[in-house]
Amino acid sequence: MKVLSAASELYPLVKTGGLADVTGALPAALKGLGIDMRVMIPAYPKVMAALENPNILLRYDDLFGGEARLIAGRAMGIEIIAVDAPHLYGRQGNPYLGPDGKDWNDNAQRFAALSMAAADVAGGAAKDYKPDILHVHDWQAALAPVYVKFRGGPKTVMTVHNIAFQGQFPASVFASLKLPPQAFSIDGVEYYGNVSFLKGGLACADQITTVSPSYAQEICTPEYGMGLDGLLRARRGVVSGIVNGIDTDIWNPATDKDIAATYTAKTIDRRAANKRAIEKRFRLDQGDGILHGVVSRLTWQKGMDIFAASIDSLVASGARLALVGTGEPGIEQAIAIAAERHPGRIGVVMGYDESLSHLMQAGCDTILVPSRFEPCGLTQLYGLRYGAVPIVARTGGLADTVIDANDAALNAGVATGFQFSPVDGPSLEHALGRAGRCYRDRALWTAMQKRGMESDVSWTRSASTYAALYNSLLNA
Ligand code: ADP
Ligand code: GLC
Repeated sequence: MKVLSAASELYPLVKTGGLADVTGALPAALKGLGIDMRVMIPAYPKVMAALENPNILLRYDDLFGGEARLIAGRAMGIEIIAVDAPHLYGRQGNPYLGPDGKDWNDNAQRFAALSMAAADVAGGAAKDYKPDILHVHDWQAALAPVYVKFRGGPKTVMTVHNIAFQGQFPASVFASLKLPPQAFSIDGVEYYGNVSFLKGGLACADQITTVSPSYAQEICTPEYGMGLDGLLRARRGVVSGIVNGIDTDIWNPATDKDIAATYTAKTIDRRAANKRAIEKRFRLDQGDGILHGVVSRLTWQKGMDIFAASIDSLVASGARLALVGTGEPGIEQAIAIAAERHPGRIGVVMGYDESLSHLMQAGCDTILVPSRFEPCGLTQLYGLRYGAVPIVARTGGLADTVIDANDAALNAGVATGFQFSPVDGPSLEHALGRAGRCYRDRALWTAMQKRGMESDVSWTRSASTYAALYNSLLNA
């Protein structure tokens, strides 16, 4: 079976978050199941530079304002189709934002182009390649099922990685999308008088998935649906949640080249060398006391404002913190100021550092994820795999992947981390306190670490679920 995946990010070529990790890992995860997945992505400069064995599938005289080519090839071991449209994607840096930190003002056209190219190939426009299923990710590719619906094509799957990002534009954009007039309707892209890419995808795709069972339930409610819950409730029969796995080759503490000392569950003592490396890198006091870790976008979604306000209490309890992240200026500032108050106890690297994120998982005692909502979350999965015990909000994929160390779970020997709810200062601090007490019981803590390391966070199960979904669509 041939599946065309379409997305705006692909690890390791272009990544702003977990979406890239997932689109990058799925092709290999599905390979063993007889599914040949290709990924269509915009030909950003880094993608063009990495492209090997290029083969032009299709040419456009005018794709949203300029000439374009769809080039099949390999990049970093993944079969891709690059949408080579220099007028849209020939820009360095972040895929969505210009140098001023604001959205590119032609993002509607840029991602309509990605979507249209995906729909064209899916519909059979390229001579050498025609997929059986089109699987699109997030708003940037969400118009593809709309094009397929109005122009014809294969069955489509739309995966929502984060419903907060919807791709909304003024109605005036519609004229440029080359859709028939009836697509500006309740069954198409119209959304309260505007154009919404995500809404269009959710209305037109044959199946809708999101990245955990809990989030699939949550987005059908007004509290989490961000305005799209009504549509999702109407389509509930085709909505499902498939929890993300992680790439267990890239994230493997036994072989990881980005960490100070490799280890396994059996040689977990060697982990201490990574803790020492973090202390050095973050200029923290050296010691065996608990060291909390954060690797995160510093945003409201991630609860990082609440976390910043709890830093004094974390330090007062005797704990230390290493944090690597970047995000909203107000939150960055609050964290930087708190760090200044506690030299040696709080270490901060403001920025995005993929390699350091590996060391964090290998050396911190915990990984904190206090998100207000979290479709799946990958950092807690990396934490489990590396023996950094997750402390997470009880929401979305966090609730589905971490087993809380309550008395019953501790007695049964199944706990893998700590959950808390609601997402506010007192309950976060309570969870930090619970973790601190468990940490002092070394045998108990080590058992919890090892249990996490031995739990299955791979793609095995979820890849089969995707495969079953594609098969059910083909056989329908
Ligand atoms: P989201 O996609 O919502 O940000 P996820 O937990 O799914 O959340 O994925 C986040 C990904 O981005 C993980 O791979 C994480 O390691 C990485 N990440 C986040 N912030 C940073 C950072 N400052 N430096 C390096 N990696 C980061
Ligand atoms: C989004 C979500 C995150 C999820 C990731 C990959 O970025 O915020 O929870 O893990 O997509 O699916």
